[in-house]
Amino acid sequence: MQRTMNSKRKVESILDKEKTLELREKHIASSCKLFFKADPIKILTARGQYMYDEFGTRYLDCINNVAHVGHCHPDVVKAGSDQMALLNTNIRFLHDNIIVLAQELTSLFPKQLSVCFFVNSGSEANDLALRLARTKTRGTEVIVLDHGYHGHTQAVMEISSYKFNIAGYGSRPEHSYVVPVPDIYRGKYNDKNNPGDDFGLLYAKEVKNAIDKVKEKGRKVAAFIGESLQSCGGQILMPPGYLKQVYSYIHEAGGLCICDEVQVGFGRVGTHWWGFQLQGNDVIPDIVTVGKPMGNGHPVAAVITTPEVAALFYETGIEYFNTYGGNPVSCAIALSVIDIIKKEGLRENATKVGQEIMSKLEVMKKKHPLIGDVRGVGFFIGIELVKDRESRQPATAEAQQVIYRMKEHHILLSADGPDRNVLKFKPPMCFSAENAEELLSELDVIFTEIEDTRNENIKLPVCRSANGKTDRLGSEPISKKKKVAA
Ligand SMILES: Cc1ncc(COP(=O)(O)O)c(C=O)c1O
Repeated sequence: MQRTMNSKRKVESILDKEKTLELREKHIASSCKLFFKADPIKILTARGQYMYDEFGTRYLDCINNVAHVGHCHPDVVKAGSDQMALLNTNIRFLHDNIIVLAQELTSLFPKQLSVCFFVNSGSEANDLALRLARTKTRGTEVIVLDHGYHGHTQAVMEISSYKFNIAGYGSRPEHSYVVPVPDIYRGKYNDKNNPGDDFGLLYAKEVKNAIDKVKEKGRKVAAFIGESLQSCGGQILMPPGYLKQVYSYIHEAGGLCICDEVQVGFGRVGTHWWGFQLQGNDVIPDIVTVGKPMGNGHPVAAVITTPEVAALFYETGIEYFNTYGGNPVSCAIALSVIDIIKKEGLRENATKVGQEIMSKLEVMKKKHPLIGDVRGVGFFIGIELVKDRESRQPATAEAQQVIYRMKEHHILLSADGPDRNVLKFKPPMCFSAENAEELLSELDVIFTEIEDTRNENIKLPVCRSANGKTDRLGSEPISKKKKVAA
């Protein structure tokens, strides 16, 4: 399972880095942003949990949750290329791959969730899920979690407060009702101000309040959509009982529950295939969307639902056709991903190594005042940095500093959350105990370094673009952007 590569993997680049940057600035829309904007790395090859730049320098990848079974896994590459050499076409032709994949995929879900639609991306999956919910319920209104992200099409941007909270977006879409994310460290109800309270119930009540607002307007709830663990919102784990109560309120109101597993699905949480299963066996969404890890980098995604929801969609008389969704190549690739997760014990690895990381982070927390909170399960872990434990003031600039310093140590990490102060750990699932040691010891060094210079002004890398503008990275928390009330 551990595919350690110590040798340098050097591949010739078509363009030198300066030229690549120059042409990128000219031809690629500037809203498509790069990791490490001040000094982007040019990655040419990757294998397992490692990525290699144009000099063959190895980076330990702690952020690529898409390369789920490891970058360029030979079995995935073979499955795709073998099928590509045989046939690739649309799903109007009878073919076994789509059937075998549907059978295999649904076998990983509670039995009610037995029907699939195959699409090409998480955005498409959520867009379709929304259509299914509106068709089934004849409702229009959608209850969404604050800081949630569900994709980039118009319809899903309108239910992604991570995006519509941004000043440049315009106003909150009228049909979206934002409820607070159940973040018990920094959220509306938290372990500091509400110790001992039932956070699952408190936060679920917010959903009930949103349902009441919908009713007051004389409208109907179509759906509640949320990730089962919120990734974009800063690696948030749902408090016990939360989803069960939310789903019950939504069902009472005649709505459907859409669970977005696009980032966290396919065993990332270790003990289960899907994040919603962490909330108990009796928590069953009506629609689940999956994507990213499903193709290990190849674009394939799916919507899984009940026969009843699918049948009502059929009754509209509108055919569902998708040129690429469910094609034999994508299905062969997704099948090989599921097979590798099982064969290589990757869920078990995420459980074991994830637990080791969590317990070592708890120890590090005692040593480093910079760490406000550590939370996580399996290979879904967040380290929330604070300027001061008492006030919990977010350490936004420090988080950026950690990321850039880690990059100098050839370890790739990212930061997210409304204040961009949460270090996100979501590596390929073959990340080993040895990798964890490396990650934690470098973090220890860098945290110490930052704490030692705490009272000095933190100098963040400055990014210069061709038009001469400068931009100091990470100094702006996302929450600076306007707040949108439900
Ligand atoms: C939770 C979640 N849902 C949906 C999407 C959209 O997926 P895609 O980029 O494949 O369209 C993303 C992408 O980051 C995501 O994180």
